[in-house]
Amino acid sequence: MVAIGRGAPYAAVVVQTVKAIYPGSFDPLTNGHLDLIARGAKIVDHLVVAILRNAQKHALFTVAEREEMLAEATREMGNVSVATFDGLLVDFAQEQQAQAVLRGIRAISDYEYEFQMAMMNRKLAPQVETIFMMPGEKYSYVSSRLVKEVFQLGGDVDGLVPPLVLERLKARVAPEKH
Ligand code: PNS
Repeated sequence: MVAIGRGAPYAAVVVQTVKAIYPGSFDPLTNGHLDLIARGAKIVDHLVVAILRNAQKHALFTVAEREEMLAEATREMGNVSVATFDGLLVDFAQEQQAQAVLRGIRAISDYEYEFQMAMMNRKLAPQVETIFMMPGEKYSYVSSRLVKEVFQLGGDVDGLVPPLVLERLKARVAPEKH
């Protein structure tokens, strides 16, 4: 919350709450995402985790399943909500009256793509800021894509995804692998 006032204690104080959107595919949610959500929720008043609703050809989980997993994993975080969107991210951010988009940068290799997206979003909606945060270093190599690949090939992803996601992975991927 940002209090903007002049000449306290007599002048009126305008209280502006800060809302940010954390967008992504979340197929599936990883502990790296959760770490970033917790960090983001500490610095904004309200964080909306927004799942892109486009028909991804190789999605492992439906948007509804991803939404359920995110809602369950963030249930205890009072200022975090989960939503889905399609179309332009900046349109969704403005519909939500959010001032910022939150994105995670795990390593320098993420930076180029993230920078391009941030600049494009700024061109489309200059009033929407992008905030970059770094997840805990133990998650610097964790991505949804690798989690899916490793799990589908019989590898162990324990500790990289929340237990509720691990359960869903086990139910979805051929049991003989695990
Ligand atoms: O987790 P991801 O897959 O890296 O997330 C990418 C996402 C959803 C943030 C990005 O693809 C996006 O914002 N898509 C919405 C469409 C849009 O606004 N495209 C222009 C981005 S500059």
